[in-house]
Amino acid sequence: MKSLVRENDQVLTTSAPKRLHIITFGCQMNEYDSQRIAQMLMASHCLTPQAEDADLIIVNTCSIREKAEHKLYSLLGRLKRLKRSNPALKLGVAGCVAQQVGKKLFAKVPELDFVVGPQGLYTIPQILERLDKGQKHISDTELTKDFTIPYIDAPLPKKGDVRAYVTIMQGCDNFCTYCIVPYVRGREVSRPSDDILREIGQLVAQGVKDVTLLGQNVNSYGKGLDEGVDFPGLLKKIDANFPQIRLRFTTSHPKDLSDELIGCFGNLGTLCEHLHLPVQSGSNRVLKRMNRHYTREQFLEKVQKLRQVCPDITITTDLIVGFPGETEEDYQETLSLLEQVRFDQAFAFKYSERPGTAAARFKDKVPEEVKSKRLTKLLEIQNQIGLEQYGRFQGKVCEVLVEGCGQGGKLSARTRGNHVVNMEGGSDLVGRLMNVYIERACHHSLVGTIVH
Ligand code: SAH
Ligand code: SF4
Ligand code: F3S
Repeated sequence: MKSLVRENDQVLTTSAPKRLHIITFGCQMNEYDSQRIAQMLMASHCLTPQAEDADLIIVNTCSIREKAEHKLYSLLGRLKRLKRSNPALKLGVAGCVAQQVGKKLFAKVPELDFVVGPQGLYTIPQILERLDKGQKHISDTELTKDFTIPYIDAPLPKKGDVRAYVTIMQGCDNFCTYCIVPYVRGREVSRPSDDILREIGQLVAQGVKDVTLLGQNVNSYGKGLDEGVDFPGLLKKIDANFPQIRLRFTTSHPKDLSDELIGCFGNLGTLCEHLHLPVQSGSNRVLKRMNRHYTREQFLEKVQKLRQVCPDITITTDLIVGFPGETEEDYQETLSLLEQVRFDQAFAFKYSERPGTAAARFKDKVPEEVKSKRLTKLLEIQNQIGLEQYGRFQGKVCEVLVEGCGQGGKLSARTRGNHVVNMEGGSDLVGRLMNVYIERACHHSLVGTIVH
């Protein structure tokens, strides 16, 4: 959970009369959406870090796993008490749980004023006006096929932030059998490339140097637009217009990772040597039941091609253990895939049943204790692999972008391959590219010294 606060941001803390507190769960797309909400309400609301001080509290929610949904209900239990002591407080729920549960949220939590899904969040300013006129329990959870993402001036980064996200497409048409995203984010919608370039331009003008393009499935960018720009085409446009930035993207579906896109890692100077490529399982039987449309062999071939084009590329992934019907043999195949690929990092999850998805109807559920055991063992193996992978940088000099002050007063920086490097240095170095000698690897980070 992240609270969106930008105390240093002059524009957001000016004379806006009311105070807004946003609490964000879930993925980077939700963080980006929360920034857009703050941006839309900027004229009337400044951000406050304290829920107790707020005139308006918005919880931007995630429903990817059951736990995420439960977190919302316990949070709302606390927030409704604030509303009881301050009846003027407005309380709204946005995002994926809002979309999933809809108006029924009002029955669960009558203190709520509004509920908006990921497409509905753009109507929040009008909803606030209607609430001021005395209307109650307003919801906007329509998912329409012809939704377009409105243009809003780039969400302002916090003063000194050198990284920013830019959503390039929203929604998903893939319907992996375990996943709720297509039901709560709707069909894939791409933003016009001119909007994206304009937004990156605004961010760069504010000092941003590292841009991550976001989408549930960025590889299918361009579908439905009539400008004829596909994802590699978009990357090339951005590279040509902003040759000085570091460019990244997430998430890529392996089935749509084309040779042309793989080639971009070899020939676009801005594109950083990091790819997040969720594999989910190493077993063909499970991949088929997940509706992933690739085999283990096809995944391995793509990894090989990527490493041919870009030998030092960092590859990270997502995995699910205990998908319905996953046998011990299937699970062992996932472990052997980890050994074979040697990911720098893997985000692994126990399968969580989501309402309305195809896998929720699969009968052969894996018991909770088996899922837990499988997850623990998998993380143990991957932690060791990750540490060894990070170890390949020991004794080398890497170029890093200094991002800010991290733990223990040390500087926190990032390699092009997305490894965090902690090192000594003054805060005047934030935003600078530096060469750093890597002394040692830790779990999920590196320790280095600046080379003068
Ligand atoms: N669009 C991305 C990721 C979406 S969600 C993709 O296609 O890969 C991020 C991760 O959450 C997924 O990669 C998957 O590993 C995990 N996830 C999604 N649904 C899940 C579920 N029902 N149970 C457990 N993990 C899930
Ligand atoms: Fe979910 Fe699959 Fe779409 Fe990713 S590609 S968001 S896992 S349905
Ligand atoms: Fe969660 Fe919705 Fe993102 S379900 S992972 S916030 S798209």
